[in-house]
Amino acid sequence: MSQELANLESEALNELASCADLDSLQSWYQKYLGRRGLLTQFMRRIGSLPPEERPAAGQAGNRLRELLEGEHAKREKQLQEQAVSLGLQRELVDVTLPGERPLAGRLHPVTRTLRRIYQIFAQMGFQVFRSREVETDEYNFGLLNMPPHHPARDMWDTFYISDDVVLRTHTSPGQIHAMRAFCPEPIRVILPGKCYRYEQVTARAEFMFHQVEGLAVGRSITLADLKGTMAAFARQMFGEQRRMRFRGSYFPFTEPSVEVDIDCILCGGKGCRVCKYTGWLEIAGAGMVHPVVLRNGGYDPEEFSGFAFGMGPERIAMLLYGIDDIRHFFANDLRFLEQFS
Ligand code: PHE
Repeated sequence: MSQELANLESEALNELASCADLDSLQSWYQKYLGRRGLLTQFMRRIGSLPPEERPAAGQAGNRLRELLEGEHAKREKQLQEQAVSLGLQRELVDVTLPGERPLAGRLHPVTRTLRRIYQIFAQMGFQVFRSREVETDEYNFGLLNMPPHHPARDMWDTFYISDDVVLRTHTSPGQIHAMRAFCPEPIRVILPGKCYRYEQVTARAEFMFHQVEGLAVGRSITLADLKGTMAAFARQMFGEQRRMRFRGSYFPFTEPSVEVDIDCILCGGKGCRVCKYTGWLEIAGAGMVHPVVLRNGGYDPEEFSGFAFGMGPERIAMLLYGIDDIRHFFANDLRFLEQFS
């Protein structure tokens, strides 16, 4: 009997010492001191001993219970303290470590250029007017004075979505939307947005790019207004001393039509690789809104006139930042994008 208790004691104490956390401590308690624990079972068996052995066995059992309860309480306290200090250690902040640099976002170079363009035209009273990227054939071409099979449609390589729905090849269809929204009031808007062309992608041409269209409609707008507006824009965008010229051109939706050139911002007009030794850089297509287009927008060309222009922010950003390949803009290479902040 006493041997049994002695074994139980040493086994229980050994196991208690190896309880490494509060969970295993609880299992330990159940195993030895719980209602079906080993010591409890021992005590129950005392009744079946010969009467003279019972008191000694009972006392020995009670002593062991007291001992184990006491040891359990000590171990429990130890483990609780340990858990608290472990937690503190884990949450310790080493204030001498270098901080984590927050990842600052930055604006895309095209966004930066677009915002600069908005700013300059806002000063001249132009508000931003948005219109759709998916257009009908009629808006992209027809209402811009290019009926079906008009040869000028070849100027734009077009993504057709269906027979009469296209991805807009330019922002000019927005002219019609703006006129129909404002008519009969005068208009001064710019129309920025994405355009799509079915192009062989090269350093100079992407299948998606941006344009900023400009449109002014009023009662006495002349080519001189277009010229003044373009010159003011060029000087603010590219520098006060910029020179500007109009070169005769052709667009079905403007008459007369021009290309807007500035003297080369790299060589100042002497001739270099960027201006292909002409001394001039083309920055926009423009012209006086064609009477047919005015009428399609709801305005009487006898009473109203207007000018329109279209420019490419990627091309402008390439000139300003010295970027030599338009494909960089949408390749999403951070080494390129991080240079603009
Ligand atoms: N839409 C023309 C283009 O994409 C540019 C343009 C706009 C020309 C407005 C004249 C007037 O080439």
